[in-house]
Amino acid sequence: MRFEWQGKVALVTGASSGIGQALARGLARRGCKLALAARRSDRLEALAAELKAQGVEVLAQACDVTVDADRASLARAVEERFGGLQLLSNNAGILLKGLAGQEPLEAFRRNMETNYFAPIDLTQRCLPMLRRSPRSWVAFTSSGLALRSTPGLGAYCATKSALEAYAESLRAEEQGRGVRVLVLRPDLTATDMVGTKRTAQSPEQVAEKALKALQAGRGTCNCTWRVALLAHIHEPLRQALDWGTQRLMKKGYLP
Ligand SMILES: NC(=O)c1ccc[n+]([C@@H]2O[C@H](COP(=O)([O-])OP(=O)(O)OC[C@H]3O[C@@H](n4cnc5c(N)ncnc54)[C@H](OP(=O)(O)O)[C@@H]3O)[C@@H](O)[C@H]2O)c1
Repeated sequence: MRFEWQGKVALVTGASSGIGQALARGLARRGCKLALAARRSDRLEALAAELKAQGVEVLAQACDVTVDADRASLARAVEERFGGLQLLSNNAGILLKGLAGQEPLEAFRRNMETNYFAPIDLTQRCLPMLRRSPRSWVAFTSSGLALRSTPGLGAYCATKSALEAYAESLRAEEQGRGVRVLVLRPDLTATDMVGTKRTAQSPEQVAEKALKALQAGRGTCNCTWRVALLAHIHEPLRQALDWGTQRLMKKGYLP
């Protein structure tokens, strides 16, 4: 059964830039009503004004997803304004760089708070609304790096692997209630998070792939052939990359 977008309510976190902003625009083009959340309210308001000018119904709410009260107030605001929700896009994220052997625990905690605990809590708060619709979605913006952790990004990769493990449990538990789960795995994308050098795709390309995956009812969206390949040959590739990393370390290219 195809997902009909017109008139559906979508909540997108991390909508102030990058992939979240592109998702918001893509959903608006498909006729959705939107709740947009992020910390930078000036950027959210600018996006809301742009979309409202196109006739889209928008709620823009400043929200730090790591703050309990902000998440509670966001879910409440969606219920009060729209009376329901059909798509929750847990997209907000941060990327902290550091070596696995010496990065302070605090950095791991901060990354986990934003990328893992916040989407879990927001999902739990939104589930009653999502379950009231015959068909609804929770989308998690993961990463190709959920499949393969790389040197220097251990904390970030761990958050995405953990998020995918949570998403799998949620999918199995909610399938009988009409709530479906999408795991979105972008490749290197040209956003504020990583800059624009040597990126594989634009945020607009990621958003279109995500929306097509939702439309088609798919549970996973590997955004490039590299990520798809990684998903299929995960284990042999892991061994090859471990070997390559060892070589680079021996030659002094990595600390
Ligand atoms: N770019 C890539 O190469 C890439 C690859 C794979 C996966 N991803 C994932 O894609 C998602 C979007 O990232 P992006 O690439 O679009 O980067 P981005 O442009 O930096 O966007 C990150 C978004 O998350 C929001 N955010 C961060 N911390 C937040 C917090 N505490 N509370 C509320 N919102 C918060 C930011 O908004 P404010 O700063 O205004 O709060 C911003 O809108 C992330 O989950 C990221 O891990 C990105």
